[in-house]
Amino acid sequence: MEELFAEELEALRARSLDRHLREIGSAQGSEVEIAGRRLINFSSNDYLGLANDRRLRDAATAAIDDFGVGTGASRLITGTQSPHLALERALTEWKRTEAALCFSSGYAAALGTIPALVTKNDVVMLDKLCHASLIDGAKLSGAVLRVFPHNHVGKLESHLEWARREHPGMRVLIITESVFSMDGDRAPLRELIELKKRFGALLMLDEAHAVGVIGPNGRGLAAAENVSEEVDIQMGTLSKALGTSGGYICGSRTLIEWLINRARSFIYSTAPPPAIAAAALAAVDFLASPEGEERRLLLSERIRLMEGILPRAGLNEEQSGARSAIFPWVVGDEEAALNLAAALQNEGFLIPAIRYPTVAKGAARLRITVSAAHEEPQIRAFCKAIRKLMKPE
Ligand SMILES: Cc1ncc(COP(=O)(O)O)c(C=O)c1O
Repeated sequence: MEELFAEELEALRARSLDRHLREIGSAQGSEVEIAGRRLINFSSNDYLGLANDRRLRDAATAAIDDFGVGTGASRLITGTQSPHLALERALTEWKRTEAALCFSSGYAAALGTIPALVTKNDVVMLDKLCHASLIDGAKLSGAVLRVFPHNHVGKLESHLEWARREHPGMRVLIITESVFSMDGDRAPLRELIELKKRFGALLMLDEAHAVGVIGPNGRGLAAAENVSEEVDIQMGTLSKALGTSGGYICGSRTLIEWLINRARSFIYSTAPPPAIAAAALAAVDFLASPEGEERRLLLSERIRLMEGILPRAGLNEEQSGARSAIFPWVVGDEEAALNLAAALQNEGFLIPAIRYPTVAKGAARLRITVSAAHEEPQIRAFCKAIRKLMKPE
């Protein structure tokens, strides 16, 4: 067995597809420490700089004092403590849905929710660039899978026509993201809603990279486009702009009650620590506050600055005009992406290369992300460094 994996690892290395952990010796922030060296971090999803925020830390510490560290059981046995329910009430109010349910991660939310909604007798239509958690959830459900080209409404329409023709009684679930994790562009939400209504399908929207960044009170793309009520299943994660960890589903009371009864990643997993729920609640409160609005405006300013001065050469065309915190600098070749990441690290910037299978083969990239925690000079210094590296020696 050892030999088998050693050979496979060697094969990964030969294709520049091997992965390694890097040890961060500090809290998250616009700067982090690696091997005693401070690096400016342009790879985090902590878009609002909340991961090490005093308010969230205080909320977590107070919850540890009152509730301890572990939960001892799953939510349905004895693991539901007051912070879990307080967080779910706050999410319900913030997202203006009837109910909310938290999972231990966004990945767990997708993996539990999709198989609870569809089975082998149903059809799932998935955007080609959907996150691995959505793909895995869809596969686990056993439903017939139809992948449509990225944001291609016409192809989705023909898939829906096919489903209604070939499988008239089947439940059809359309799954997409509001802001795509590796490209930073947005789904054509209004068109998707028109289709889902016309064909009587359900729509699940993963707002992982939109909440905290887009929409009133950072509620995401559905709220920004005033169509929240048309999205049947609103998924998100607490681990990105909300600075903590955990996933959630917001929707109708019936949906949430169904998930409590059927989502296996919720039922068969120990409840998340109450301190994390309390910190996430502080993050939701922050987002809905005037200070939260200011922080979001600051993030928009930082995004605009990056947009204005980052050389266009490496940028994916999809990104232009999209306005998210994600700037995909597509290099193509895996080894070249690793080399660029290493050269930037030499210059004092942390942006690990993203390679297959996270993105397609030959579409390796640096996924540059901007945070409200970045100072202007940090963004300017980064753009200067990448410009310098683009110049032939
Ligand atoms: C689009 C998308 N959905 C879901 C997830 C999973 O969320 P979590 O990190 O909370 O498991 C991620 C995180 O990488 C993501 O980018």
